[in-house]
Amino acid sequence: MKIAILASEGAPYIKSGGLGDVMEALPSALARIPGNEVVLFLPYYKKILDNPAYETELAVQFQVALGWRQQYAGIRRLKNRADGVQVYFIDSLYYFGGRDGAIYGDGDDGERYAYFSKACLDAMVALDFIPDVIQCNDWQTSLVPVFLKSQYYPFFPNTRCMFTIHNVEYQGWANSDFFDDVLTLPWEYRQRLDMSGMVNTMKGAIETADLVTTVSETYAKELMYPYYAHGMDSVLAGNAGKLTGITNGIDVNTFNPETDPAIPCHYNAETLAEGKAVCKAKLQEEVGLPVRPDVPLMVMVTRLAGHKGLDLLCHIARQLLWEEDCQLLILGTGEAQYENFFLGLAREFPERVSAKITFNLGLAARIYAGGDIYLMPSKSEPCGLSQMNAMRYGTVPVVHATGGLKDTVPSADENGKGGLGFTFQSYNADDFLGALKRCLHLYKNDPVQFRALQKTDMEQDFSWDKPAGRYMALFDRMLNG
Ligand code: GLC
Repeated sequence: MKIAILASEGAPYIKSGGLGDVMEALPSALARIPGNEVVLFLPYYKKILDNPAYETELAVQFQVALGWRQQYAGIRRLKNRADGVQVYFIDSLYYFGGRDGAIYGDGDDGERYAYFSKACLDAMVALDFIPDVIQCNDWQTSLVPVFLKSQYYPFFPNTRCMFTIHNVEYQGWANSDFFDDVLTLPWEYRQRLDMSGMVNTMKGAIETADLVTTVSETYAKELMYPYYAHGMDSVLAGNAGKLTGITNGIDVNTFNPETDPAIPCHYNAETLAEGKAVCKAKLQEEVGLPVRPDVPLMVMVTRLAGHKGLDLLCHIARQLLWEEDCQLLILGTGEAQYENFFLGLAREFPERVSAKITFNLGLAARIYAGGDIYLMPSKSEPCGLSQMNAMRYGTVPVVHATGGLKDTVPSADENGKGGLGFTFQSYNADDFLGALKRCLHLYKNDPVQFRALQKTDMEQDFSWDKPAGRYMALFDRMLNG
């Protein structure tokens, strides 16, 4: 099957969050399936263009029509990727390569990604790569199915399009005049893109894609409710027959405690006791906490954003530290209020709390390896990847039972049996504290069972093999009705 995957970010070239990880591993997993030809399109951001590790050559170039604009696009073929995925970067100095700073957040993001979406379709035509399936991701590529149905149909008569929601919070809102100024679509599409008089490109994708997926089964159900859907519930309910949840995997080769070059001692499910003990001691040393093998080390690697459940942690942190002998280590950057809170907490409890306000992939790996307990109390979580990373390294998760957290961390009982971690159902601080205390209790009072739970976590299959198979089944369904 010929598959084109389109996204606004993809590791290792460029990544701001989980989407970048998925766009590294999913194309690769699909390319491993015999008979597949997989092509991945990404914007040629300055960070990629400036990186000498990525060798590219110009494949084709053309002008993209965007309303009254004609914008140059160079299609750069990546020459050095080994896993069979062909990567093409869309080169535009004006929209991507000439801009410093964060990849999102410019005033003209709507126009930038409308351009990207169109340039990818033009590139497929110019390269004579007419895929069976286009899989596109999040609002940045949400115009792809819209363009495909409205303007590009003659070039792609048999191509089917899947739209995947990684996070419904960002929807591609624009003023009404965006429609005429940038999109210039047939008039009937104004209605399909309309939300409260504005343009909403994600709505357009849900209405026009052949199938819609999201990144966990539970999130697919949650999206039917206003609490989770950020206004998209009625649109999704109207298209419920199209919507499926496929829980993400993780890259089990990168995240592998037996080979990870970032961690001080390698281990597997059989040698976890000795391996993690070394990793824990080194980690405590690295982050400036007393090296104490007996004390439970609770860790968190996260964007410091409200929906990650930080308000719950802030609320209970002091009580927890007063009542329990434990250490807390946070790695991440984000909203100033949380950065300041955790820095303050570390000053107040220097022997107990360490806050690393930075982005550091190596330290993240050492935290997965050296931690005992991984905290992820997210308010909502479409899938979440780091709880799976943590389990792969034998760190027991304590999570809010929502979205992908619910699907990947079945709840263990207070004896640590029958599940993979500790969960709480309703989003409030006391329930989170309760789950944490159940976990700490097991750690302190039944180390044998805690160890068994860590081992079970490490033995889970979080690879992309199963999810890639489910994507294939849906691709087949799109093609064969
Ligand atoms: C988004 C979601 C996260 C998910 C990731 C990859 O970042 O917030 O839950 O794991 O996409 O699909």
